[in-house]
Amino acid sequence: MYYPEELVEEIRQKNDIVDIISGYVGLQKRGSNYICCCPFHSEKTPSFSVNRSRQIYKCFGCGEGGNVVTFVMKHENYTFPEAIKYLAEKAGVALPEVEYSEEAKRRESRRQRLLEVNKEAAKFYFYQLRSEHGIKAKEYLDRRQLSEEVRKNFGLGYAPIKGEALIVYLKSKGFTEDLIRDVGLAKMDERRGTTTQFWNRVMFPIQDINHRVIGFGGRIMGDTDSGPKYLNSPETEIFDKSRNLYGMNYARTARTGNIILCEGYMDVISMHQAGFTQAVASLGTAFTPGQANLIKKYTKDVLLAYDSDGAGVKAALRAIRILKDAGLSGKIIDMSPYKDPDEFMKNLGKEAFQDRIDHAENSFMFEIRMLEREFNMNDPEEKTNFHNQIARKLCEFAEDVERENYIAAVADKYHIGFDNLRKLVVNTAAKTGGYAVVPERPKSGIQTKNTPEENVKKAQRLLLTWITDYPQLYPKIKQYVTPADFTIELYAKVAERMFADIENNCFNPAGIINMFADEKEQSEAASLFTTKLEQLESDQEREKAFHDILVSVKRNSFEYYSSRMGVDITALNKVIEGKKALEELSRKHISMD
Ligand code: UTP
Ligand code: MN
Repeated sequence: MYYPEELVEEIRQKNDIVDIISGYVGLQKRGSNYICCCPFHSEKTPSFSVNRSRQIYKCFGCGEGGNVVTFVMKHENYTFPEAIKYLAEKAGVALPEVEYSEEAKRRESRRQRLLEVNKEAAKFYFYQLRSEHGIKAKEYLDRRQLSEEVRKNFGLGYAPIKGEALIVYLKSKGFTEDLIRDVGLAKMDERRGTTTQFWNRVMFPIQDINHRVIGFGGRIMGDTDSGPKYLNSPETEIFDKSRNLYGMNYARTARTGNIILCEGYMDVISMHQAGFTQAVASLGTAFTPGQANLIKKYTKDVLLAYDSDGAGVKAALRAIRILKDAGLSGKIIDMSPYKDPDEFMKNLGKEAFQDRIDHAENSFMFEIRMLEREFNMNDPEEKTNFHNQIARKLCEFAEDVERENYIAAVADKYHIGFDNLRKLVVNTAAKTGGYAVVPERPKSGIQTKNTPEENVKKAQRLLLTWITDYPQLYPKIKQYVTPADFTIELYAKVAERMFADIENNCFNPAGIINMFADEKEQSEAASLFTTKLEQLESDQEREKAFHDILVSVKRNSFEYYSSRMGVDITALNKVIEGKKALEELSRKHISMD
């Protein structure tokens, strides 16, 4: 849904940032700001600050910042349109109705109808569990030590032995047999007519991120019962197993900064019961790229809590690859000596589990450790093979620093000489076409000096921050600086709007942040307005600092355009002009007042 900018701006202005944020956290007035402990990272002393006159917030601890829309997006895990809708409702602003095509309307109403069937079925199962028919199921859940609270939260139920009762019930609610079949709760049998998918099973409704029931999993209660341990709904128009995750409806607002990926429904439930509400599981099938993308909307840190058996390790290795391809970082939680999170929790409890989270293993090191199991280290040939395989994997790191750090870590752990391993990596890369250039070993392992690109970015950012804090400087420099001098796209956009706003006497940081729908961009824009410039004592020092930044931005712009200059004469003129401006600027004195 696209909302016009004026409307977005109206909605933002009608939602005072201090009022909205107060609804989530306790703010305290401190000077011209309101402060509290940051809701986006854990801390003991407040570094989260809200400024009413600028209508923006910023955390000086974790760097989060933005306007009221950013805050709601972040806190509720909403998309931009969702946040706008939410704030519009709060402020009583009417949003334009969406125009759907007839076809889209029909599809939507059919989806709604299928969801209603599931919702009604979940209700039915829920009551069955609490009726006399459900005594065995209740005892089963008691044995598994599930609290009443999680039974409710996850809507656990029971499908009775006489499965047809569900069909009778749903029909009485006005649903047709066709619909019941289409949603996967019943199927046509040649001999017996319509039969139910689930009977005599504990039922786990599967919810999408908006808490709507899209399918079911059903578990047998004993080990001797016939049929598979878990039976799931088939895929339907509303049940896409590759794009949903069990427990994600709660995990999306867990605010732990990570997601714990488990194998089973029961694992998720017992994790939630222990307070780890960031736990999710796939839906009876292996983890998919679609699920990785779902997780990516909320976090990039994934902890794998897969079973510790052979199948679990295999599944974990697969999942690591998928996470990596999606740009997510994976770590592995060691569950030993227990099989899965559910057993672990029952035996060792949540503190021990938290400890395992804190010591989760880097996924690359896990892969190497699993690889090691395939070789006999007492045999020199196998050992060499193992080292060759390691080198091959190390070649996959495109970043020099990252690769060097991993070479160091692996060399250390497996007692291989660093230089030998590094040589092996270089040779392997040369042979296989991996990333070959291994520069001098960095002394600290981490580069502390900024790259030229970072310096350029920093200068442009600081220039915008200076102008935010001292808008009176703008008229003095406008003959030298244009938005095109900002070679970072986001800064160019900000500059364009900021300069126009200052000209029109309506400069307002929160409005500028609103130009960006993407949360990251909003946060980046916000940091321009909330960065504290270095405390400089005298005007003279300030003038010098500002002048240096200005010249640096201008020089970069000049170099940028000259290096990209084509053959045409206007471009050449521009470059010559730029050079003149740069020289003039270098000599010019710009006073602060
Ligand atoms: P597990 O057997 O590890 O699940 O299978 P679990 O949650 O630990 O089961 P409990 O503790 O014995 O109750 C992992 C997942 O694989 C799917 C289910 O989604 C299950 O949660 N599965 C397993 C099936 O779909 N069918 C099966 O027959 C078994
Ligand atoms: Mn289990």
